[in-house]
Amino acid sequence: MADGEKIPVNRMPTNVAVDALTRAPFALVLTNPQLPDNPIVYVNRAFEEMTGYHSDIALGRNCRFLQGDDTDQLGVRKLREAIKNREEVTVILRNYRADGSKFMNRLMIAPLTDGEDQVPYFMGVQTVYTDDEPENEDTLQALAEVQHRVKNHLSMIIGMIRMQARGSKSTPQAEFDTLARRIETLQLLYEEMSDSTGDRNTGKDDIDLGAYLTRVANAIAYINGRQGVRVNIDADRVTVPIQTATQLGLVLSEVMTNAMQHAFEDRESGLVDVRLQELSDGMIRLHVADDGNGIPEGVEWPKSDSLGGRIVAELVRSLDAKISVDRDISGTMIVVDIPANHTVTE
Ligand SMILES: Cc1cc2nc3c(=O)[nH]c(=O)nc-3n(C[C@H](O)[C@H](O)[C@H](O)COP(=O)(O)O)c2cc1C
Ligand SMILES: Nc1ncnc2c1ncn2[C@@H]1O[C@H](COP(=O)(O)OP(=O)(O)OP(=O)(O)O)[C@@H](O)[C@H]1O
Ligand SMILES: [Mg+2]
Repeated sequence: MADGEKIPVNRMPTNVAVDALTRAPFALVLTNPQLPDNPIVYVNRAFEEMTGYHSDIALGRNCRFLQGDDTDQLGVRKLREAIKNREEVTVILRNYRADGSKFMNRLMIAPLTDGEDQVPYFMGVQTVYTDDEPENEDTLQALAEVQHRVKNHLSMIIGMIRMQARGSKSTPQAEFDTLARRIETLQLLYEEMSDSTGDRNTGKDDIDLGAYLTRVANAIAYINGRQGVRVNIDADRVTVPIQTATQLGLVLSEVMTNAMQHAFEDRESGLVDVRLQELSDGMIRLHVADDGNGIPEGVEWPKSDSLGGRIVAELVRSLDAKISVDRDISGTMIVVDIPANHTVTE
């Protein structure tokens, strides 16, 4: 097996959050093309499971360590070219697991730009390819669409994190910490797509938003779980385009994480109430309320300088939605109304 030099990189935190959420069924790696030989700086749990390599072994290496002598050189060349030209490409090539067994890797790589012509990261998504079990064309297209969304949203978030980092003493490690949860929200979307059967999804571009947001809310409740804080989730079955779902998934992730992390400081008990409703005019309403301490006076949200707030503001803008923040009640209630046609601008 081709082996490469291992370069020290900042690792992702192995905390519960990452642990609980990195079980998504697609392998994802991030590499840093600014470092010598473009080493891996992040792998998710699915990558470890698919390849048998623990992150300790993968981090700091170039991904070519998965290849063997009989790996298709045409595919390798395509990858090399795409990386040089900062382009997206999908190839199928032979790779080897840690135990020596081989598998066909359907690999999509794409540059994640930070909006300033720089490419701070490359993203790679690996899925095992089996040609004896032809996959449904719609499913494949839907998954490709999700990859595309994951890429766009990761780029947006990375852009914002870097903007933030320039104004503070933020370290690459802190950059990763803030990125981790957001990556994983996007992975859950992929999970929802993969698990969904025909009757749940009306077409390749649509997804059951209620099921997806329930998945996101459950995951966040689990990773931020605090004793005495109950989470109530009540989601109508609403089918929306994938792009709407990704945007709203990220909004829910930010808002609900805030409730879990900030609302109940010094409290023994509390309730977070998440609701998704389709209103009679076709409008979709996402409602997240907590009965906690409330947003502190003087903090403008979501217009605040903090990253979470800015991500929400940006998503709400691109969804053409309205957000209202009720701080007069005991606690905080956030309502996002998405127009009936929910067309999304990127
Ligand atoms: C984000 C990313 C993920 C990659 N994942 C894989 C992989 O899973 N398997 C693989 O064989 N090569 C993978 N590669 C490609 C190799 O790292 C390398 O770029 C390729 O072998 C061509 O370069 P080389 O000719 O210098 O080896 C990936 C590259 C990038 C940027
Ligand atoms: N539900 C809530 N209850 C109490 N305070 C809140 C709530 N939501 C937000 N806040 C306050 O608003 C601030 C800004 O939130 P925001 O999500 O923008 O940033 P953050 O959570 O501090 O950091 P991150 O960028 O990681 O999300 C929080 O630090 C907190 O003080
Ligand atoms: Mg926050």
